Order: sequence, then structure tokens, then C-alpha cells
Amino acid sequence: EKGGYQHFMAKEIMEQPKAVRDTISPRIQDGKIVLDNITLTAEQIKGFSKIFILACGSAYHVGMVAKYILEKFARIPVEVDVASEFRYRHPIIDDKVLVLVISQSGETADTLAALREAKKLGARTLSIVNVVGSSIANDSDDVIYTWAGPEIAVATTKAYSTQLAVIYLLAIYFADLLGNLSKEDYAYYVSQLQELPDKIAEILSNKEHIQFLASQFFNVKDVFFIGRNLDYAMSLEGSLKLKEISYIHSDAYAAGELKHGTISLVEDGTLVVALATQNKLFDKMMSNVKEVKARGAVVLGLTTEKNTKIEQEADHTLYIPEMCEMMLPSLAVVPLQLFAYYVASMKGCDIDKPRNLAKSVTVE
Ligand code: M6R
Repeated sequence: EKGGYQHFMAKEIMEQPKAVRDTISPRIQDGKIVLDNITLTAEQIKGFSKIFILACGSAYHVGMVAKYILEKFARIPVEVDVASEFRYRHPIIDDKVLVLVISQSGETADTLAALREAKKLGARTLSIVNVVGSSIANDSDDVIYTWAGPEIAVATTKAYSTQLAVIYLLAIYFADLLGNLSKEDYAYYVSQLQELPDKIAEILSNKEHIQFLASQFFNVKDVFFIGRNLDYAMSLEGSLKLKEISYIHSDAYAAGELKHGTISLVEDGTLVVALATQNKLFDKMMSNVKEVKARGAVVLGLTTEKNTKIEQEADHTLYIPEMCEMMLPSLAVVPLQLFAYYVASMKGCDIDKPRNLAKSVTVE
């Protein structure tokens, strides 16, 4: 049932091109995004004053990426909160707020309770869920399913990727409805979205290099992931993947925050994974790489194919294919999943069932 792989996690990582394709394709018809099973009207979407994203764990990390994307495309303010915090903090919600709930299982207790609280306060609710007929799906006004198929490994991979794919669908859909996209831009983004599965497959076909890098670093004690903007938001997930299955301490930081405290932890040999996929921020990231190198860090850079000048600073580099910047988190996460997987495997960890963790957290 592991399809010839040693672990479900490996199988699920490799299934991502198909999972993303299955999630996107039924919703693109003749070059148009069609979300026809949702009851949200254009009028309602135009009236939203805010989008509130609620989730836990990796689904929350999708929300962090989604904030950048939805704000840029829909021009609606987005707030992201971990479900267990939202419930206890007197959130400001009314019927002009869209509450977007993200969950693979659809059964996470805190997420479900947050959804119910939001409904009580009058919000319109839309959920992105993988398990058909789950509690969160049932309790939401609308559901968009991720067609990732069953996810068995505790560490999520294909659910994260398909959730992100739904975010792109929504962002382009909302932007179009709100008149924020020219015809050409709309067509461009839709076609980029359709290319996503093949680009993910391209990365997966080069996994040996990532395996080699894992062999260089599987003994490290601490890893810091740094990035800016979308790279920062995505690195939260890269860091979680590594810590949950390899038990290596890791954290993700907005690169600009380093100087405000964290850089004091960098010493000789500390591994810093520097994400620099966003063109406008590339030079700023290079300055951060120089800063950590000056304190002895070993830097693993991650950028797109054209940015070879990263090699002037980084000790090792991971390249991902070029595509429109907002979709790069979907590509950049893949080598980080593989890196975590290989590191955990070299350490002999119980990859599919890491200690202390459950696939679905149904207690608060
Ligand atoms: O089923 P959900 O998406 O609601 O689960 C949320 C988190 O429990 C989940 O993403 C968790 O963080 C995973 N272990 C991450 O790999």
C-alpha cells in the first residue's frame, strides 16, 4: 500500500503533481476558474471587509502564505490566526467577514471550535478540506475540497500543496471578480497554475541532490530557516517538516528580524537555510546571508534557476524552476519536504509516525 516506497511520506511527496493537478483541473474550464459548487455570490465577495484565516499546524502555514497572496490579488485585508488562539481572544467579526478555515482532516478540534465560534459571531464561512464529509466540511457554509486523496503520514505534504493550490484558485477568482486583473494577467496566472504540477514533478525528478545535501547535514543540532515575504511564510512549513520528523531543533524567521535578536544564536557551523525566490528581495536576502556567514553559519541557499549569483555567498544551493512569483512557495516547499525526509531517514527516525504526534488532533 506504500506503492513501493519505504514510507507513506515518500509516497505522498511523490504524489504531489497528481494531487495538485486533481485539485486544480476540475476548477479550470476553457481558461476560466469555475467554483460552481460554492454558494458565495459575487455581491457577497465584493462586500467582504476582511478575510480571517483559521487553522492549526501546517494548515496555518498555508494561511500565512495565503495572506500575502490574497492581499496582493484580492486587495482585501487578511488576518491569520491559529485556531486555538482565535477562540479565546474576543475576535472582531461580523457578516462582512469571510472566515476561511483550512484543514486536511476536517476534524481538528480547535479548528472546528473556531469555525463554530466564527459562525456564532455571524461570519460567512468557507473551508478548504481534504476529507469529504468531515465535521469542518459539514459545518461550513461552503467547502472547496482538496483532491489530495488519503494522507497517511503524520507529516503533511500533499495536503499542504493542494491547500496552497486552492489558495491560488481563490486569489485569482476573487481578483477577477473584484476587477483587479486585466484579461491578459488573468490568462497568464491561470496558465501558470496549470503548469504547477509539471514544475513540481521536475523538482521531484532531481531528488538525488537533495539526498546528498541531507547526508551533509543530518547531524546538525539547530537549523534556522530565513526568508522574506512569501519565502518567510513558506519557510515556517519547511522548518516544521524538519523538526517534526527528524527531531532537529529548527525555527523560521523573517530575515529582517535576525538583527533584532536571533542572530545571537548563530555560531560556527550553524545551518541556515536561506530562501531567496522573490526577485525584489533577492539582494536584501544576500545581505542577510552575508551577515550570518560572518558569524560562522553554513548556508544552504534556495532560489530560482536564474539566480546563480547566490553561489557567491551560499555554501550549497537548491534551485527550483522559474514561474510567477506568487506560486514559488509551491515549488520551494518540495525540496524542503525532501530534505526533512532524507535527514529523518538518515537519522533512523520513525518517519510516518513521529514521537508524540497524532495525524489528527481531535482533542483541544
Ligand atoms: O487536519 P488538519 O489540517 O486540521 O491538521 C492540522 C495540523 O494538526 C497538521 O497540519 C500538523 O501540523 C501536521 N503534523 C503537520 O505536518
